Amino acid sequence: MTATRPAEVAIARTREELSAELDGLARAGASVALVPTMGALHEGHLSLVDRAHTLADAVVVSIFVNPLQFGLGEDLSRYPRELSRDVELAASRGVRLVFAPGDGDMYPEGAPIVRVKPGPMGEGLCGRFRPGHFEGVLTVVAKLFGLVRPQVAVFGRKDLQQAALVRRMERDLDLGVRVDVAPTVREEDGLALSSRNAYLSPDERRHARAFHRGLVRADEAFQGGETGRRALTSLVESEIRDHAGLELQYVELVDPETLVPLETAGRGSALAVAGFSGATRLIDNVLLGADAPDPGVGRPTSVERAR
Ligand code: PAJ
Repeated sequence: MTATRPAEVAIARTREELSAELDGLARAGASVALVPTMGALHEGHLSLVDRAHTLADAVVVSIFVNPLQFGLGEDLSRYPRELSRDVELAASRGVRLVFAPGDGDMYPEGAPIVRVKPGPMGEGLCGRFRPGHFEGVLTVVAKLFGLVRPQVAVFGRKDLQQAALVRRMERDLDLGVRVDVAPTVREEDGLALSSRNAYLSPDERRHARAFHRGLVRADEAFQGGETGRRALTSLVESEIRDHAGLELQYVELVDPETLVPLETAGRGSALAVAGFSGATRLIDNVLLGADAPDPGVGRPTSVERAR
C-alpha cells in the first residue's frame, strides 16, 4: 500500500509499492528520471530534481542510506535520517515518487555477493582513502537502475569520482540509462552543500570555506595562464594549511571523465580536493575555467528558508 501526501507525491517503502507506482507511470506513458540520494535533502539534491524535470515526465527520488558504501568507523549510524522532512521538500519540487526502501527491501538476501567492481577509476582520489566505497556505490546504483528502470538518472558533479564511475559503469555494462551530471550548488560563501555539513560546529564550518576558496584561487591562477599541476595544487594546499582545524587528504588535477591524473591543466580539467574539518570529511572540485555558475551562490538555500 502506498500513502499519497497532500502535494501528490507517492511514497514507496517496498519493492511491491515501487512496482505498483511505476506501473501507473508506465500506463500513463510517462518517462522517468531518477535522482538517487541518501536523504537529508538540501538544495544540491533539489537542483538535481529541477534538472530531472527538464529531462523526463516524472521525477523519482530514491532515499536510501546504503550500508554497503560506508567503511568501518565511518558515519553510517549517525548519518542524518529525516524522511518526513525529505518527503515535504521533494513534494515542494514536484517529485512524483519517493522510493525509500529499508535495508531488507534493498538487500532481501543480505549483503549482495555479486557486486560491481569499479576498477582503476575507483582507485585514485577518494578511492584511496575509502576502500570499498565505490564498489558499494556502484552496486546500489546498478540495483536502483534495475528497480526503477529510469530513462535518465541525474547525479551531482560535487561527487566527481562517483559521477564519472556511474557514467563509465553505464557504458561498460550497457544499462540503458542516460546519466546526466549537474553542477555543484554552494552556500553563499562557496562551501558546497552536503548532508554532512550538519555535523560541523560553527568553527569547523568557518574553516571549511577554505576548501572552496583554495579551488577558486587555483581557478583564478589558471585563468591567468598557470597550467602546471604542482602550481595549481599548491594554491589549494596553502589555503588549507592556513587553517589549524583542517586536514587535507588530497588535491589532484584530473580529467573529469576518465579521472586520469594530469600534469598540465586545460579548460575543463578538474581540480578535486578532499579533507577533514574537525571529524567531518568534505570533498569539492572545480572544472578549471569552465565551471558553470552555481545556482546556489548568493541566495539562501531552500533548507535555510524552511527553517
Ligand atoms: P548523496 O550524498 O545523498 O547525494 C545524492 C546526489 O546529490 C549525488 O549525485 C550528489 O553528487 C548530489 N549532490 C550532493 N551535494 C550536491 C551539491 N552541493 N550540489 C549538487 N549536487 C549535489 O551520492 C550519494 O548520495 C550516494 O552515493 C548515492 C549515489 C545515492 C548512492 O548511494
